[in-house]
Amino acid sequence: MFEHRESPADRDRLAPYLTTGNSDGNFEGGSRQNEGGRPNGRVEVGGGEPSSQNSSQEDPFHWSLTQGTTVGRALISAAQRLSVTSSETARLDSQVLLAHVLSQSRSWLFAHHEHELSEVDCRRYADLITRRRRREPVAYLLGRKEFYGLDFAVDPRVLIPRPETELLVDLVLAQISDRSGRPVVVADVGTGSGAIAITVAVHAPEAKVYGTDISQDALEVAEENRKRLTPEAGPLFLEGDLLSPLPEPADVIVANLPYIADEEYSGLQSDVRDYEPGVALKAGVEGLDLIERLLEQLPTKVQPRGAVLLEISPRQGEVVQRMAQDLRPKPSYVGLRRDYSGLVRMVTLEF
Ligand SMILES: C[S@@+](CC[C@H](N)C(=O)[O-])C[C@H]1O[C@@H](n2cnc3c(N)ncnc32)[C@H](O)[C@@H]1O
Repeated sequence: MFEHRESPADRDRLAPYLTTGNSDGNFEGGSRQNEGGRPNGRVEVGGGEPSSQNSSQEDPFHWSLTQGTTVGRALISAAQRLSVTSSETARLDSQVLLAHVLSQSRSWLFAHHEHELSEVDCRRYADLITRRRRREPVAYLLGRKEFYGLDFAVDPRVLIPRPETELLVDLVLAQISDRSGRPVVVADVGTGSGAIAITVAVHAPEAKVYGTDISQDALEVAEENRKRLTPEAGPLFLEGDLLSPLPEPADVIVANLPYIADEEYSGLQSDVRDYEPGVALKAGVEGLDLIERLLEQLPTKVQPRGAVLLEISPRQGEVVQRMAQDLRPKPSYVGLRRDYSGLVRMVTLEF
């Protein structure tokens, strides 16, 4: 996630923010493109083919295509351009973005290399590639991000949900299925796009789910996602500081709060730092401001025998564990949990 000063330890610690919503992973075989090959014909690769002289002079990232360029040529050219501006997923990004422009799947692209792009397609694709060259996250360019198999709308008002956070959903669902009797009340604190709250509501419709956020902008996105993704009422979103807007204590409190320390923030990859909301990432000198305040608010907001599940940075595991053990009333259990890459990523408290 760091541009210049990362060390292996930094990379582990901040793993979820090493990438944004970029089209990371899962590159399928079957592409016939040859990134090393020289494109010819109508696609200009070396310096781009500016649609007007001014735009290329003003914007070093500007790139364009000529009407009639084939899918194959467009992909080769775009991937080359993206790799120059250090997109680690250049080939995949170029495919995902062209598939988006053409409203087709990536496999359709591979089967239609000779398909010629219209002028409108060329313009839209060139615009997206130009923006990606400026390191705008792919998820924002597409306006969506898959999380736990659901398609969430995302834009710069919300953090792009990360795959690591899916583990939190697993833990919440396990807590819900361990409880029977009256409906379980779940609170997702710092809900952002609503990814955790909505996924829980979809998979456990019997639960009563709240999502809180300090950002009204984020809650607008969460509300859009709720309307589209939850067949029934879904979560109730409330604006305010941490647990304070909750109208009742919760049985399960889940939170992926900001946990980036001030010093780490300035070193984040520009995809993250320049595009994702600072309020979703920054958490003071140690990166613990929000988590510490959440723990302080717990006594009146968690039910007896309630559980609290927090995503943290691996370097924060021990200190958050100690802070939790010092709480009064004292939790009956405090434990750390590793993510699927083996890094300490979650703290669980049970009362
Ligand atoms: C790391 S993002 C997580 C978003 C979402 N839960 C996810 O996992 O994708 C943190 C969220 O906490 C919100 N937030 C920051 N400070 C807050 C506060 N004092 N009270 C409530 N929410 C806050 C931010 O607006 C942001 O949406």
